[in-house]
Amino acid sequence: MSENPFAATRRCTGANLNSEPAMQLTPEQIAQFDRDGYLFFPRQFSPEETQALLDAVPELYAKRDAFNVREKGRDAVRTNFAAHMVSKPFGKLGRHPRMIEPVEMLLGEKLYMHQFKVNGKMAFEGDVWQWHQDYGTWLNDDMMPTERAMNVAIFLDDVNEHNGPLMFIPGSHKRGVVAAKHDLSTTSYPLWTVDNELITSLVERAGGKNGGIVSPKGPAGSMILFHSCLVHASTSNLSPWNRVAVYLSLCAVSNHIRRHKRPEYIAHRDFTPIECLPDDCLLQDYPVDLPWKDGMPGSALQTSTVPFDAQKAAA
Ligand code: SIN
Ligand code: MN
Repeated sequence: MSENPFAATRRCTGANLNSEPAMQLTPEQIAQFDRDGYLFFPRQFSPEETQALLDAVPELYAKRDAFNVREKGRDAVRTNFAAHMVSKPFGKLGRHPRMIEPVEMLLGEKLYMHQFKVNGKMAFEGDVWQWHQDYGTWLNDDMMPTERAMNVAIFLDDVNEHNGPLMFIPGSHKRGVVAAKHDLSTTSYPLWTVDNELITSLVERAGGKNGGIVSPKGPAGSMILFHSCLVHASTSNLSPWNRVAVYLSLCAVSNHIRRHKRPEYIAHRDFTPIECLPDDCLLQDYPVDLPWKDGMPGSALQTSTVPFDAQKAAA
């Protein structure tokens, strides 16, 4: 794949400029996504754009709020949720056409933000993410009807072989939802994880030592799109380099979740379609709605195991 596949065609549709042509994925990229379950875009965001995001992280991580999950027994932040509701640079990233438009193209529909994380994986302290699929959790916990949702990873630090890069099993998304068990003890964050036996067979089928596991690595500003059923993991970070990365989970609007078993800061409840800001939004000032700027409302912590249409019908 070329260094920056969108360079020639990058345009901003903007919130009110939908007649402008959108960025296009090539037929080869669409076929590659279908086959492998991911696409890698090195240097999708410039060093200046990436720095504007990274500069906003310390203030977010300093907050003693439920939306900051710290590493087991440590103060280092493992994952920060909902930064797009709190912080202007991340609010703008959540509406960025270089991220939204290729996902709209792959899912063929307008999107809403299902989940927004800024994962620390801090130097010496960042813990593992066990082997898992994201859609398994979204189905089991949130009742998301189908897998029509996409993960986007954006590196805010350089990612190399030492600081815990993501590992993918190419093509594993083709298996749909695989068996998983709810792991509540390995790390500070509960996860539906896939057992070693199944991982071994998926890796063998994907090529074993010849490509059965891949790790896209590259400079800060690089972006990965990956299928919600792609099996992935990452090791701990024993290096002296942070590996801060943003993970956005975008869901097709018609595929919105059907219950609120998890708090709103983990699984969002606003299904309004995302409208893009202009392409230069990370370096310019644009108005962005930040509903949780002055704190999360109590309602964001309320949960229920009852699907919300059943709740409405009973009311
Ligand atoms: C995730 O799978 O949600 C995070 C993985 C990572 O940060 O390495
Ligand atoms: Mn994941």
